[in-house]
Amino acid sequence: MIIDITIIISTKEKAFLCYNRVKKVFSMKLPIGISTFKEIIEENYIYVDKTKEAFNLTQKGKYYFLSRPRRFGKSLFLDTLKEIFQGNRELFKNLYIYDKYDWIKPILVI
Ligand SMILES: Nc1ncnc2c1ncn2[C@@H]1O[C@H](COP(=O)(O)OP(=O)(O)O)[C@@H](O)[C@H]1O
Ligand SMILES: [Mg+2]
Repeated sequence: MIIDITIIISTKEKAFLCYNRVKKVFSMKLPIGISTFKEIIEENYIYVDKTKEAFNLTQKGKYYFLSRPRRFGKSLFLDTLKEIFQGNRELFKNLYIYDKYDWIKPILVI
């Protein structure tokens, strides 16, 4: 993951705040090699919220072809869709889709 950070320092307090935020990001766990959504959430790994894209896919369109190079998050995204279709709402607390998706609607996952 590449993180581009620009810090504009105007006061000592702001600099301290920025420093703490940067420190917090770098002390979080990176989900290296983990493509299981449940594990990422339950073990508190960094997760870039892609549930808005997932939500949009569930609302429109018909067929999708996920074409991305390796390590671009295809497997994790599919696993995220699986959790959504299985209605495992509690995993999505604090994420975009939590209060948008119709969790009651039954979807058969094969
Ligand atoms: N939304 C995301 N937030 C954080 N890490 C992610 C995200 N999507 C993928 N990753 C991480 O990137 C790496 C590659 O993801 P993966 O789904 O295996 O890619 P692919 O199937 O395209 O090769 C894994 O370590 C995974 O945890
Ligand atoms: Mg994969």
